[in-house]
Amino acid sequence: MPSVDIDKNSLPDHVGVIMDGNGRWAQRRGFPRSKGHIEGAKRFRKMIFCCRKRNIKALTVYAFSTENWGRPKLEVDLLIKLFKTQLQSALLDFSDENIKVNFLGDVSKFPDSLHMLIKKIVKISENNKKMTLNIALNYGGRAEIVNAVKSLVSEYFERKVSIAEIDENKFSNFLYTKGQSDPDLIIRTGGEFRLSNFLLWQSAYSELFFTKTLWPDFKESEFDEILNEYASRKRRYGGIQA
Ligand code: IPE
Ligand code: IPE
Ligand code: MG
Repeated sequence: MPSVDIDKNSLPDHVGVIMDGNGRWAQRRGFPRSKGHIEGAKRFRKMIFCCRKRNIKALTVYAFSTENWGRPKLEVDLLIKLFKTQLQSALLDFSDENIKVNFLGDVSKFPDSLHMLIKKIVKISENNKKMTLNIALNYGGRAEIVNAVKSLVSEYFERKVSIAEIDENKFSNFLYTKGQSDPDLIIRTGGEFRLSNFLLWQSAYSELFFTKTLWPDFKESEFDEILNEYASRKRRYGGIQA
């Protein structure tokens, strides 16, 4: 059970997590960075259950950015291998826990074996209802917006959409998160105060939380502290408090 009692109505529907700090976690212990990624992957699996247990409707995790390709090949290869093994072993959890899994980003850039596994997971879980898990893999907010613009322009030339019809709602249908609510809460671990290209469009009114805790150390109790603080925040959306 959650370690603090939070009013169900004050829980976020959608939580985003920038899972940062794996490399530093390992380096501080004298381990190779890969060990940090392995621990980070374990924490990710725990986080899914944390959200599921609290009836949070959607969780979006940032696992690999469009900029992360710039890391040494050894690290990128290790991450790809890890995504494959972790997703493979999480397959059963997704069905047992009734979790629908989406991937945000251009996953066709990954090797075939991972790409096929991703397609399989999306297909197998598409009718699951209890929670949505979005995994941002080869994701960048700017790339997402540019892709959306390209699709919209194509539809315009095919006369499927007119300029008058384009509004924020229409535009958001071209994003990877089509049909989903925006994240209410975004947590970044690892101590940096930036979004690093995560959900640029969708985070317009998200409540942001930054913690120094490195991702492999992020515990359920800290999540509850954040949920508690979230519950006390006043979201005004540009209006004034009633
Ligand atoms: C986040 O941890 C995982 C990925 C970006 C893939 P990092 O690998 O960025 O860890 P730090 O920030 O270097 O400690
Ligand atoms: C953000 O972390 C991306 C993910 C957590 C997947 P980075 O470590 O890549 O971000 P920067 O380089 O500190 O901005
Ligand atoms: Mg980092």
